[in-house]
Amino acid sequence: MSKKSSNQANQEQSRFRQLKMRTPDRTQENIECIAKLFPNVITETRDENGAVKKAVDFDLLRQVLSKELVEDDNERYRLDWPGKKASLLKANTPVTKTLRPCREESVNFDTTENLYIEGDNFEVLKILQESYLGRIKMIYIDPPYNTGNDFIYKDNFGKSKDEYEEELGTTDEEGGKLFRNTDTNGRYHSDWLSMMYERLLVARDLLKDDGVIFISIDDNEVHNLRKICDEIFGEDNFLANVVWQKKYAATNDAKGFSNLHDHITVYQKSTNFNRILLPRTEEQNKPYKNDSGDGKGLWRSDNLLVRSFSESGVYPIVNPNTGHEYYPPKGSCWRASRETMKIWLSENRVFFGKDGMGAPQLKRYLNEVQQGRVPNTWWTFQEVGHNDAANKELKSLFNSKAPFDTPKPVNLIRQMLLISTNPNDIILDFFSGSATTAHAVMQLNAEDGGNRKFIMVQLHEKTDENSEAFKAGYKTIADIGKERIRRAGARIMNDKLSMVNEKAKENPTIFDGHNNSSFTIHNSQLDIGFRVYKTDTTNMKDVFYHPSELKQDQLSFLESNIKEDRTPEDLLTQVILDLGLELTLPIETKQISGNTVFIVQTNSLVACFDNDIDFKIVDTIADLQPLKVVFKDASFKDDKDRINVEERFKRLSPETKVMVI
Ligand SMILES: C[S@@+](CC[C@H](N)C(=O)[O-])C[C@H]1O[C@@H](n2cnc3c(N)ncnc32)[C@H](O)[C@@H]1O
Repeated sequence: MSKKSSNQANQEQSRFRQLKMRTPDRTQENIECIAKLFPNVITETRDENGAVKKAVDFDLLRQVLSKELVEDDNERYRLDWPGKKASLLKANTPVTKTLRPCREESVNFDTTENLYIEGDNFEVLKILQESYLGRIKMIYIDPPYNTGNDFIYKDNFGKSKDEYEEELGTTDEEGGKLFRNTDTNGRYHSDWLSMMYERLLVARDLLKDDGVIFISIDDNEVHNLRKICDEIFGEDNFLANVVWQKKYAATNDAKGFSNLHDHITVYQKSTNFNRILLPRTEEQNKPYKNDSGDGKGLWRSDNLLVRSFSESGVYPIVNPNTGHEYYPPKGSCWRASRETMKIWLSENRVFFGKDGMGAPQLKRYLNEVQQGRVPNTWWTFQEVGHNDAANKELKSLFNSKAPFDTPKPVNLIRQMLLISTNPNDIILDFFSGSATTAHAVMQLNAEDGGNRKFIMVQLHEKTDENSEAFKAGYKTIADIGKERIRRAGARIMNDKLSMVNEKAKENPTIFDGHNNSSFTIHNSQLDIGFRVYKTDTTNMKDVFYHPSELKQDQLSFLESNIKEDRTPEDLLTQVILDLGLELTLPIETKQISGNTVFIVQTNSLVACFDNDIDFKIVDTIADLQPLKVVFKDASFKDDKDRINVEERFKRLSPETKVMVI
């Protein structure tokens, strides 16, 4: 057998665990969950390759649950549409696609913790499923509203390619398709619902237990969105249907009603979510303008009388300076009992007017009121901006016409971040458009010194050739999004620097050499970079997934199980995802004994994908005591090599798991 063919044969009998290089199979995981509850309903069957796998005996499960079962022809309360089952199935099925890094388009690739991912968001969510499972604090999405003219993306699930071609739109090489969903489409609502349902099902898994999702939507689909969210997140986790006033003036030529609002539907992952109070406004603080000079700070006066009558509130308040007695008018009473009033008087909380002779009033101190505002469900354009303001923001960044038609205002998303995120949280927007969410995250970090990280996902959607964006050189919406983050980041950093400079001029001593002012610290931490990744087919050849299908005479043609055009950094990315590690972990590249070695987060993972490895490097790698080490299986000359490596690791770093692709 030639060296090449022996590599192939070795793959099947490798001593080391082989990575799966595909996303997890949720169906099998769900079966495991059912097995825990009802072990007797689990049976075995064979998959398409003849391998034995676990399955559920539904007849048996029906018997176990017989009393509670809703049969197919029973009426029940639920939202159904053609394609719902297929969506559910799709959400649970593994995908073999992967992400490939793109250093050229990234900013500060090696140090940033932000991500910009180009590709269909369903695939991206699946790819991120292991690495970001339960790690995202807040998701904001602004999907197509299904207004009768929107482009909806769907894959070719259940349809032949020809059927697809008949519809208007473009099909990519994978059969994924962006089509204009007009209301003449017989599956107008169903197609939109399927598109949303499968994405939200996967997105929910990414949320932290105390995470939350905000979804922009309008009246076209808000009712359907609520129904699928009730199903996916649970009715009890519905938090709010915020009404955002997106326009400041009605259009007089509107048919019927002039629509001035959007909805923002909010669901928590679980009751562990804690909403954060919004900062108090200047308006709210304005009444607190009195200061008694007693060190207790600013206060405002409040009524001591209350309407609800209680006998215990009727007694005289005595002015300690004048001895004058004040009784509540007939039918009303003081707001506190005689005992509490005594304490208030002793603490100088009762105020008898500027001249000290007036009727008693209560002092309310600013530092004792709730340090914030409870968010409400009515968001005005004065508070969070409107559509026109969002367009202006984008125009001002691009010094010209806005390159994107439907941006959201930065302040709208900033408000959601204020309510739901803490300084180290990860924020995901998988319909990112012009990347307003990334802008809002950087903006808020600059304001409060936070280190929130963003993940933007945007389809590789082409811009119209007649559009301003296309003419300005932005061939895709993703190009616009990336450029927006670059420009917004630079502006935020500049603003910050000029603020620091001004403060330094005003008060040079604070900044004098120590570098310890909050401004300086905020500045050095501000992450305005982002790593760009793009979806692509797996790095592995078909033979990797179906070695048994390989015929003997084909073996000698195969150099390795990895596609020829893939770089070591591509392989490293897929391995990181396969192992469920975060994509933004720091990566160090080292040359050891003539080989390129990647060291991910000190000792989380060490990988070498060179063809001819000098296995002397094993000793140097073992010195790092890595948790995991990955090689290419094809790099081992023969089984002797494998045994040697295994033995050395066992001796020098017994905890290390050695794996191969
Ligand atoms: C309404 S826009 C979002 C606007 C964004 N909130 C902003 O402020 O700029 C929706 C975006 O989702 C993108 N999109 C639609 N389907 C997608 C899919 N399947 N995967 C990723 N992005 C998608 C569209 O290209 C579009 O840019």
